[in-house]
Amino acid sequence: MFIAAARARRSILRNFETIGYEPDEATWRSIKMGVKRDLQARKLRPNVPIPSRRNPIRYLKAMFRETGSIYNTLVSFLHDGTWTSSGGSFRLAEQLGFDLVHEANRRLQTDGTLRYLEVGGGWAGLKSPASGSSRDIAGLAKYFERDLGHSVFLHFTNLTQWHTELPTGVFEHPYVTAAGLPVLDTQGIASGTVSILYSQAAAYFETDVKSFLAAAAALLCPGGLLIVNFRQEYIGLVSDYAPAGGLTMRKSCDLGGMNGVVVAFEKQPSLKKGGAAVLDMTSLKPLRAKQYQAEKERPYASNQR
Ligand SMILES: C[S@@+](CC[C@H](N)C(=O)[O-])C[C@H]1O[C@@H](n2cnc3c(N)ncnc32)[C@H](O)[C@@H]1O
Repeated sequence: MFIAAARARRSILRNFETIGYEPDEATWRSIKMGVKRDLQARKLRPNVPIPSRRNPIRYLKAMFRETGSIYNTLVSFLHDGTWTSSGGSFRLAEQLGFDLVHEANRRLQTDGTLRYLEVGGGWAGLKSPASGSSRDIAGLAKYFERDLGHSVFLHFTNLTQWHTELPTGVFEHPYVTAAGLPVLDTQGIASGTVSILYSQAAAYFETDVKSFLAAAAALLCPGGLLIVNFRQEYIGLVSDYAPAGGLTMRKSCDLGGMNGVVVAFEKQPSLKKGGAAVLDMTSLKPLRAKQYQAEKERPYASNQR
């Protein structure tokens, strides 16, 4: 575990070097913690509900049941923080009223090609038993089976490597943080080619919101869709930085507690010279006022810390 974490940190730093990115101290600390949790989460069954540490008895019981190890259970409780169970699903997008399969299909029909990217996809549904519904990357892969690798390309990032084998046309990009997304340019994803960029409870942990938004905006094609949840206290930064990348807020929903605020942005066509494009971020204003409001505890999805 310690060796794997050190190896992952080195690989993340190498990716940062490639793009000339230097995280500040707080960001690097948060990434190091993220790597540890990432390695731990891989050992859990996807989407297993892990109670909050505020209820220690239930938490310890669940962790022991999942890991079978008293040591791992205690370390997670006392040192590493709550383990997460990373299934990867479209639940937050659905909360906002988006059907990602429908969005993907529509964009494929219009553009003739579809590149989907998920930040921090975890198992991306590829470890769960196949279900009839297409509510994760595994579902998209099944739905677009015939087009995969031809006109449909599905990508996801993780802080460590979760998969050894993937279907044709599905790609994992390990050792990539949300702010470090520009490295994907060296891994086959050119700027301006992503139709849908989604992150559920993963970019949420990124402390460099400015770099993440700039990188996401650069990857999106004109008209591209970005759906992501942020901590409430970051909403002010989000509304400050999103316009610079040509991102217009289309919808948002304050889920409260650990789920923060889910926001859908649309990437506008290139800004005109002289900054003539006017972007409507007004609907983020009411959220800004609430950014320092105490968090309501209402865990959702697999984002339980
Ligand atoms: C709660 S899991 C969510 C995983 C998956 N999206 C899901 O909904 O099941 C949190 C994920 O965030 C990722 N993560 C933490 N910090 C990150 C960062 N700075 N950039 C990108 N991903 C990060 C971790 O690797 C972990 O897999």
